[in-house]
Amino acid sequence: MIEQGMEKEIINKKKKVLEFRHVSAYYKERSARKKVLDDVSFSLYEGEIVGLLGESGSGKSTLCKCVLGLLKECEGIVTHYTERPQMVFQDPYGSLNPRKTIGWILEEPLRVRKMGTKEERKARVLEMLETVHLSEELYSRYPRELSGGQRQRVSLAQALLTGTKFILLDEALSALDVTVQAQMIRLLKELQEKQNLCYLFVSHDLDVVSQICDRVLFIKDGKVIETTGAIESK
Ligand SMILES: Nc1ncnc2c1ncn2[C@@H]1O[C@H](COP(=O)(O)OP(=O)(O)O)[C@@H](O)[C@H]1O
Ligand SMILES: [Mg+2]
Repeated sequence: MIEQGMEKEIINKKKKVLEFRHVSAYYKERSARKKVLDDVSFSLYEGEIVGLLGESGSGKSTLCKCVLGLLKECEGIVTHYTERPQMVFQDPYGSLNPRKTIGWILEEPLRVRKMGTKEERKARVLEMLETVHLSEELYSRYPRELSGGQRQRVSLAQALLTGTKFILLDEALSALDVTVQAQMIRLLKELQEKQNLCYLFVSHDLDVVSQICDRVLFIKDGKVIETTGAIESK
């Protein structure tokens, strides 16, 4: 006999990527424990872009930390069904080693996992630069020689090179100007469709969220208060 939940998933034919069940999170403040996430439950599926929309201080980044397992004071059940998610940062500058070239940086995880020969790793990285619409010339450049938008594409390339299907973007586009933002949105959508990726797209900006997301989780004071399908204004 098939359990009801399973049956539902077979019908949907969507693979679950992540599940939060009754997750609460706390920060310690002096002797007190401050509740920052309050009984949050939701699931993410392969091939969907889900927005996490809420005001500053509502708990979005804390929720990301729980996804990544970076918060000690986290109660409830967080289940990953695929490889660990990768993060694309708002300002990847801090996460890119300033003394190494983009090629070296992107090859690093492949080197660590001893994937392929030197030539094969280089070829893989050059191909990935093309995938995120960056010129091959950037291979031998340093992070400081790139624009903010280019650095963000490098960060995305870094995430994709791990082979993950699940990418977290915490206010990733907030620092970019509108034109670069629009290019990045197009790229993210293109990659998502081609590779069946799942994004958790965190933002305080309804406009951006409505341009990119299939579904939205609204968060307020640490509670996910509403979930919707596609936003009407799309
Ligand atoms: N390291 C921390 N220690 C204590 N309180 C924190 C810490 N980080 C965030 N907070 C508090 O938790 C709440 C949610 O923060 P955060 O998850 O960063 O919100 P958002 O990303 O939505 O702006 C805020 O009230 C914030 O001040
Ligand atoms: Mg935040």
